[in-house]
Amino acid sequence: SVMAIDPSPYAAVKKDLLELILTKRCNPLMIRLAWHDSGTYDKNISSFPERGGANGSVRFKPECDHAANAGVINLVHMINEIKEHHPQVSFADTFQLASALSIEEAGGPKIPLRFGRVDVGEQTGCAKEGRLPGGGGPYPDGAPDAATHLRNVFHRMGLNDQEIVVLSGAHTLGRAYPSRSGFGKDKTKYTDKAVAEGATVGGSSWTKEWLKFDNSYFKGLKQQDDEHLLVLETDGVLMTDPKFKPWAIKYAEDEKLFFEDYAKAQVKLSELGSKWAPGAPYVLDI
Ligand code: HEM
Repeated sequence: SVMAIDPSPYAAVKKDLLELILTKRCNPLMIRLAWHDSGTYDKNISSFPERGGANGSVRFKPECDHAANAGVINLVHMINEIKEHHPQVSFADTFQLASALSIEEAGGPKIPLRFGRVDVGEQTGCAKEGRLPGGGGPYPDGAPDAATHLRNVFHRMGLNDQEIVVLSGAHTLGRAYPSRSGFGKDKTKYTDKAVAEGATVGGSSWTKEWLKFDNSYFKGLKQQDDEHLLVLETDGVLMTDPKFKPWAIKYAEDEKLFFEDYAKAQVKLSELGSKWAPGAPYVLDI
């Protein structure tokens, strides 16, 4: 049986999120927030919420305070304000919707999200620290190199080598900051002035136009001829590892393929570990 679900609260959240994204130009951090909610998932654990995943837990202080989440707290406050008006929509759905909108609004593919994720209700729902990947060694899992580390972390989430490569393409957007992750520079020639009204300055970007979603991340990795662009160890290995490299080359050469594969992988990422409300997942026309 098909459950009739009222799409109007979702449409209202979408409208408010879009306004926030366009005002603050916070597309990259939104994407990172949603990914950090999902990316704690461990496929070897079946119980919810211990398995982690897209369950809204990143909004609670213990998880928000993890080193990997440096910088997301202000965004969580802004989303809290939006959510106060729309209690029918879960935080877990809201984070994933914000990320999908951020990709689409920046020129990326349409992400065919599904809805109805249940939130963890209390602070005990937070994931253990250390489940997200680090951008350079020494790696917390003891991995000897970046490729092993990426595989340890993403295979634990149930994602494969191709999905590691395509999802890394999200670094076509955004920046790393010495004050947050410790990576990158305080500013570069691509980040030292506001590139759009509302955008902040500073940090190191992976691409020249870091508010535009395209395949320039992979083109940049292939060429590596611009010292002003960032390449983390975990980015660089996508062009050297024998199993990652063919995908990275394909995505550098074929933006359409990158968009198609990216959209599929992000839908999968958005549902890792999620618990669905009765009748969900819902496909909504919003
Ligand atoms: C493959 C393993 C990954 C590693 C090691 C990694 C690492 C990092 C690091 C160190 C930063 C800089 C954070 C800061 O200083 O504020 C960052 C930013 C970012 N990451 Fe990743 N990341 C990975 C995968 C992903 C994935 C799968 C996505 C999304 C699908 C993603 C999306 C982003 C975005 C959009 C930013 C920019 C945030 C901003 O501008 O504030 N990353 N990542």
